Amino acid sequence: MEERNYEQIRKQDAAPPAGSMMESLRDLGYSTEAAVSDIIDNAIFAKATTVWINFIWDGNKSRIVFKDDGNGMFEEELIQAMRPGSQSPASARDLSDLGRFGLGLKTASLSQCRMFTVISKKKSESLTFWRWDLDYVTSPKTEGWTILNVAEKGDIELIEEMDQGTLVSWDYLDRIIELNKKKYTEDYFYLVAEKVKRHIEMVFHRYLETGKLKIIFNDIPVKAWDPFLRGETATQPFPEEIMENGSIKIKAYILPHRSKLDESVWIDNEQREGGWDALQGFYIYRNERLLLAADWLGITRKKSHYKLARIMIDLPNNVDHEWQIDIKKSRARPPLTLRPQLKAIAMSVVTQAEQIFRHRGKQIQRSLTGDFSFVWKEIVKDGRYFFRINLEHPVIEKLLNELPDKKKEIQKLLKIIEETVPGPAIIAKENEFPDNMLKPFEKTADIEIISLMKELAVGWKQQGMSDELIKRRLLMTEPFSDYQQLIETLDYE
Ligand SMILES: Nc1ncnc2c1ncn2[C@@H]1O[C@H](COP(=O)(O)OP(=O)(O)OP(=O)(O)O)[C@@H](O)[C@H]1O
Ligand SMILES: [Mg+2]
Repeated sequence: MEERNYEQIRKQDAAPPAGSMMESLRDLGYSTEAAVSDIIDNAIFAKATTVWINFIWDGNKSRIVFKDDGNGMFEEELIQAMRPGSQSPASARDLSDLGRFGLGLKTASLSQCRMFTVISKKKSESLTFWRWDLDYVTSPKTEGWTILNVAEKGDIELIEEMDQGTLVSWDYLDRIIELNKKKYTEDYFYLVAEKVKRHIEMVFHRYLETGKLKIIFNDIPVKAWDPFLRGETATQPFPEEIMENGSIKIKAYILPHRSKLDESVWIDNEQREGGWDALQGFYIYRNERLLLAADWLGITRKKSHYKLARIMIDLPNNVDHEWQIDIKKSRARPPLTLRPQLKAIAMSVVTQAEQIFRHRGKQIQRSLTGDFSFVWKEIVKDGRYFFRINLEHPVIEKLLNELPDKKKEIQKLLKIIEETVPGPAIIAKENEFPDNMLKPFEKTADIEIISLMKELAVGWKQQGMSDELIKRRLLMTEPFSDYQQLIETLDYE
């Protein structure tokens, strides 16, 4: 770049008025949950092992208080931390730093409240505190970018009794409760608290899972919520893929079909924001902290049939600019050069996720497998398709043989069932609510399956069939073929 000479030019100070600038900083668009997460980020980087968060309802004096047992700040450090733009976004950061802009503490706090106070204590040092008060900064009688040396007595005591740590308190929560209203709604305040708690269960789940961090929210430990359900045996992980020489890692997961999940797990996902359909997509992490959840990044639209696909992307903190990380740490956009590879991964994952979703995983094509005993047979006649009950299916055959004098009646009954199968209704329902359809025997206890298999096996044994053959035949008979484990352990002596 050409060398510019500033010496000859007349200059004029154009510093922003503090009051209006601080008011503007409030409006970066933080949600309460994003603002809370920003404060937790700072505690994590200060090596805190525990963060306490309290939403304290007290009408228009309600407050939110954060406390951590991290390594705290000296007074000069705290004053520096209180400055908007305390550190340049261009400067290199420690690899474990969750910060970038030198703004989070200020912008996140002011997005929710009119006054915030920080009290901090380093090991074997006395504590220090400073406060930003918007009402003071914007008052016509006061001037400049001024912080105040005051703090609540109760808050000071909380830090005094600790070895080290930092407390951030938010007062006059004008963005959460309407301060000038006579009637405040406590219910709404705690509704916001609940939403925040659910959000941090997800955003910090990798810290919470490993025990690196504990978060105590209104006296209750926050549990991790893993979007990839990695604790479920039926979750299918893909091999990890790497990009940019290994600095970026991608790992896809296909979550289990509803029939393979405990109902409570299914409901838990359904009750999270947007439910199952909304939770599909990429999850972008920066230093294991979730930035962006459930977004296909414009690669595909969200479709009900893709709902079991969730893909983890891991970023380090030195690609913030390329990925367009924002101050709120709630946006990320992949660089154009990486999009084709991300698209290839996403499309392969959603295709497979769709198959699991339609539980076609191991379904055998009826017309192609001669030895296999289906309950229903597909038949084509004069170019028209229909389904008939397979009278040679071992269970039906056995029944017919055992009741020779009722054979005709049973056959008539089966005929009525065949002719009245509500095919169109089943197809319509399957299309409309594919994940609400029960799978065969999904609600039947194993006991029933076992007793049916046993009856067959005993009969075959009496006919002189070997144990080996009995097992093989059960494996080739619907619906027992789905219960390989029960077949292995079946006792029919
Ligand atoms: N709980 C805390 N314990 C110790 N130091 C803290 C704490 N919170 C903030 N700090 C210090 O204050 C500085 C400013 O924090 P702030 O959140 O405003 O910016 P940042 O974390 O550097 O970047 P970003 O804007 O991306 O969050 C931090 O860099 C850190 O040094
Ligand atoms: Mg920060």
